[in-house]
Amino acid sequence: MATNRVRVWDRFVRVFHWSLVASFATAYFVTEHIGWVHKGAGYLALALIAARCVWGFIAPGPHARFDSFVPTPARLWRYLRLLLQGREPRHLGHNPAGAVMILYLLAAVAVIGVTGHLMTTDAFWGNDLVETLHVTTVDITVIAVIVHVGANLYESIRHRDNMFKAMVTGEKNVPASDGAEAERAWP
Ligand code: HEM
Ligand code: HEM
Repeated sequence: MATNRVRVWDRFVRVFHWSLVASFATAYFVTEHIGWVHKGAGYLALALIAARCVWGFIAPGPHARFDSFVPTPARLWRYLRLLLQGREPRHLGHNPAGAVMILYLLAAVAVIGVTGHLMTTDAFWGNDLVETLHVTTVDITVIAVIVHVGANLYESIRHRDNMFKAMVTGEKNVPASDGAEAERAWP
């Protein structure tokens, strides 16, 4: 089937995403000694989240903006129902289920970064609650990331379009015959 390439992810989102993957992985794997590498990578992840939150309000293109992808509960349930029936529509930007995962990942990395910082302060140094929150949120987030990658794999097979490549090039495939219509139909 002939397809058109449509630009979806702007450069900011792509650089943000892969920098977040690199900084999160570095902080996760460098824990033998909690030194400048662990803390530096963690603060970088935190700074990236802050920048992404600002971009969610000011991005010029439609797909990076929160108001384009944060779903209402009704929209989310409808999508999940259709997903279970194997009839879910394709979304060019984040689908409603993906959007919820993304909100979780943004919030979770923020919690991990802030609790990590708190552990280095006099007020919270040695505080069990903060430490448990840091480590438990990391564990839950690693599981979430596995689900996140799996869901992208499913979506790539289901819609015969490589989501991972799209996060590198910024472009997705739209059937050429009804490209304009498909774009309108895919919120
Ligand atoms: C190697 C591992 C990973 C791969 C292959 C991957 C892949 C992707 C892909 C393909 C998308 C686009 C989804 C769509 O089309 O709707 C995406 C979005 C996203 N991913 Fe990942 N991801 C990975 C790891 C992570 C990690 C570790 C985090 C955070 C801890 C993360 C956070 C996000 C966020 C926040 C978005 C939304 C991007 C935005 O709108 O700015 N990802 N990921
Ligand atoms: C956002 C990315 C981060 C990830 C994925 C992460 C991950 C982890 C993990 C897995 C541990 C447990 C290590 C172990 O018990 O062997 C840990 C501990 C720790 N992290 Fe982070 N961290 C992050 C950010 C930060 C930041 C920004 C700071 C501080 C500036 C920080 C400070 C610490 C400290 C002090 C500990 C030791 C806690 C203890 O006493 O066991 N982390 N982190």
